[in-house]
Amino acid sequence: MTYVAKENRYDTMNYNRCGKWGLKLPAVSLGLWHNFGDIDKLENGRQMLHRAFDLGITHFDLANNYGPPPGSAEENFGKIMKQDFSAYRDELIISSKAGYLMWPGPYGEWGSRKYLISSLDQSLKRMGLEYVDIFYSHRPDPDTPLEETMMALDQIVRSGKALYVGISNYPADMTKEASRILKELGTPCLIHQPKYSMFVRWVEDGLLDVLEEEGIGCIPFSPLAQGLLTDRYLKGIPEGSRATREVFLKKEHVDSAHDKIVKLNEIAQKRGQSLAQMALAWVLKDKRITSVLIGASSVKQIDDNVETLKNIVFSDEELTLIEKILE
Ligand SMILES: NC(=O)c1ccc[n+]([C@@H]2O[C@H](COP(=O)([O-])OP(=O)(O)OC[C@H]3O[C@@H](n4cnc5c(N)ncnc54)[C@H](OP(=O)(O)O)[C@@H]3O)[C@@H](O)[C@H]2O)c1
Repeated sequence: MTYVAKENRYDTMNYNRCGKWGLKLPAVSLGLWHNFGDIDKLENGRQMLHRAFDLGITHFDLANNYGPPPGSAEENFGKIMKQDFSAYRDELIISSKAGYLMWPGPYGEWGSRKYLISSLDQSLKRMGLEYVDIFYSHRPDPDTPLEETMMALDQIVRSGKALYVGISNYPADMTKEASRILKELGTPCLIHQPKYSMFVRWVEDGLLDVLEEEGIGCIPFSPLAQGLLTDRYLKGIPEGSRATREVFLKKEHVDSAHDKIVKLNEIAQKRGQSLAQMALAWVLKDKRITSVLIGASSVKQIDDNVETLKNIVFSDEELTLIEKILE
């Protein structure tokens, strides 16, 4: 069946500017880190991308190493892109990244010009795209001068392989310096992708201030703490959930978060929201946040998460109660 996007797809989604820049992202974006690899069902991934786009989610986030195996999420996305989304390319913001281990030898990870440029070439091939909209340095490299990494990003934009560049996982001071270098080069930093949720709050310690000063957008990843901040683990570890894979999310994480999740869920219920919706709203309440970058394993989760946008306002009392639980 040929996919035809819903006509009303732009009616309810909110779109926020990346910092001071012209590009707008949907308040909820979809990441393909999990559930799009060769170990997953392609048809499920296809259905999720359809629903996401039908709900106004115009931004899909990838990286060279997503899978497993590494590279397979980009390949699978490429198949779906070709079959269902080629008519919509100009309505989509597709991002990829390089920074983590992708191939053996000294040029297969970190932040050298050699690695970043060859990795993006590989990503474009896997996805069957001529360019990505945003290309990220996935993590700071302690051994490569920041100038080299930023010059590679600048070259990537000038060569037409990306429209914008971003950085991910960079601490506040390095972000400021990266922003200075990129501005000088004439390819300003569009956006930062940090880990941020009720459970992981390092960005509040300086990074968000730097982003605001520099006019850079912010798209937090794992805003649901990989599923901990949802109803998924309220009653143990269900079959098929991420924690059963014991790789990125482990039983010990579920056990140690359990009491907090139960209490947070009570507040969510009083707000008339699911815990996932409250967790996303909590991140989105800060005006410096451009979009929350969620993952999903089903169409239903995407529906649930987009519903968040009906209420992202908190009373002072609710915020105080939440802080008490998170202490
Ligand atoms: N830049 C980086 O270094 C970096 C690192 C990590 C991730 N990312 C990006 O961020 C994206 C999101 O990361 P993430 O997948 O960890 O995000 P997340 O949104 O915190 O977690 C997603 C998981 O939560 C569960 N979930 C989602 N919605 C739910 C709902 N409504 N009810 C119940 N459970 C729900 C699902 O778990 P189940 O699968 O168990 O159903 C889903 O796979 C990635 O795809 C990637 O694009 C970037």
